[in-house]
Amino acid sequence: MAMNTPRDLFLHELADTLSAEHIIAKMIPPIAGKVKDEELRDAMRAHAKETKQHIKNLEACFKALSEQPEQMVCHGAEGLQKEVDAFLEEQPAAEILTLFAAGAAGKTEQYEIESYTGLIDMAKLLGEKEVVKLLQENLKQEQAMSKTVEAVEKRLGKELITSMREAEAAAANAG
Ligand SMILES: [Fe+2]
Ligand SMILES: [Fe+2]
Repeated sequence: MAMNTPRDLFLHELADTLSAEHIIAKMIPPIAGKVKDEELRDAMRAHAKETKQHIKNLEACFKALSEQPEQMVCHGAEGLQKEVDAFLEEQPAAEILTLFAAGAAGKTEQYEIESYTGLIDMAKLLGEKEVVKLLQENLKQEQAMSKTVEAVEKRLGKELITSMREAEAAAANAG
């Protein structure tokens, strides 16, 4: 498509984010199924549902703009998926995989937060109020998920290191 105006760029970024959400919707359920922490697993499953709504909201944005999304692949989200795939190939221990999943979810949310923040700024400048509202709904859920997974990651890291030290101390005492 033509790429000459800020609106062209906005539509491009909107389509890119729609592609990202499709990739993320597929990425969350399999890794959530491997996660050993209940809070993280529940948060990921709830966010998978929210992600389906993010897709609907983005489709509603295109409708409000009377535009069709350009067919494209978000290489950023594709990269996040590849990071997960590559890590799983390392055959991590279950609790390490869980800690990794929290971090990967955090990175994904940061990517989405930055995407939506930029889109909202541009939609405001373009005077697209309905679009701003829809994008803000998505952004709020990304921010909430980001906070949740960040807290889980800290807790899990602490728990793992504590139990590792306890095991080391027990082994030293036994020896
Ligand atoms: Fe999302
Ligand atoms: Fe998200």
